[in-house]
Amino acid sequence: MRTTILDIQKLKRRGERIPMITAYDYTSAQIVDRAGIPMILVGDTLGMVVLGHPTTLPVTLDEMLHHIKSVVRGSAQAMVIGDLPFLTYTTVDQAVHSAGRILQEAGAQAVKLEGGAAVVPVVRRLVELGIPVMGHLGFTPQSVNQMGTRVQGKRANSARQLIADAHALQQAGAFALVLELVPAQLAREITAQLRIPTIGIGAGPWCDGQVQVWHDFMGLFTDFVPRHAKRYAGLAETMTAALQEYMTEVRAGTFPTMEHSSSMDAGELQAALRQSDDPTTARKPTEGRQ
Ligand code: KIV
Repeated sequence: MRTTILDIQKLKRRGERIPMITAYDYTSAQIVDRAGIPMILVGDTLGMVVLGHPTTLPVTLDEMLHHIKSVVRGSAQAMVIGDLPFLTYTTVDQAVHSAGRILQEAGAQAVKLEGGAAVVPVVRRLVELGIPVMGHLGFTPQSVNQMGTRVQGKRANSARQLIADAHALQQAGAFALVLELVPAQLAREITAQLRIPTIGIGAGPWCDGQVQVWHDFMGLFTDFVPRHAKRYAGLAETMTAALQEYMTEVRAGTFPTMEHSSSMDAGELQAALRQSDDPTTARKPTEGRQ
């Protein structure tokens, strides 16, 4: 049985912190699921960390669906939340269509979308139709061309706006809210004011939960690690070392050995070579490596 939005909201009421992480494929989803993480976000960070785009803007709904499906196949207990990509929820009708595909076709249990008051009608309608919605405030990467990549809500006016947006999303029926790049003190205040859980990323230690991007978390990048990310493993270095060892062994002929190979009966091989019409193969079996 998968985690539900009721389970997640219960965690907030009990004061239990909520870990969430992104995943984009079957294998990583299996690892996350077996570790017991209750929520997997198939984020549109997909565009950057998997597809190599500079922003999340080029990601299409079809690309999201492709990856969400594999994460759903790889998980059994976690709630899977699929991001609605840029320009796929500009009207209520379009949002219903896009979110509907994420639940019906891809099998996710919820969607996430970015924005405050402007997306309230969309959130309200999706929730009315039975589609759980996670909000996303603070730095919203789909608006990177307007806001740059920087902490939001540092001044009184913008902080007031964020608090109002958080309440508006809760009122519209969002079941949880991601706060990205928000000052820790403001995130604490929003967390205290809301009934629904806040999930922080670069929003300090007082949110109800935290989310990290798989590639940052696992140390898959060596050149850039954002300040809000913690490298819990150094997989890039581990993978590079493994690849170097593999190259060395292939070049030296020490991989593969017979341990990684299958054998056939010598008589069968001899018979095959005897019976062959092809003069190039009709010869004695080769012994060992030539
Ligand atoms: O797309 C994503 O991965 C996200 C998280 C960073 C919250 O929105």
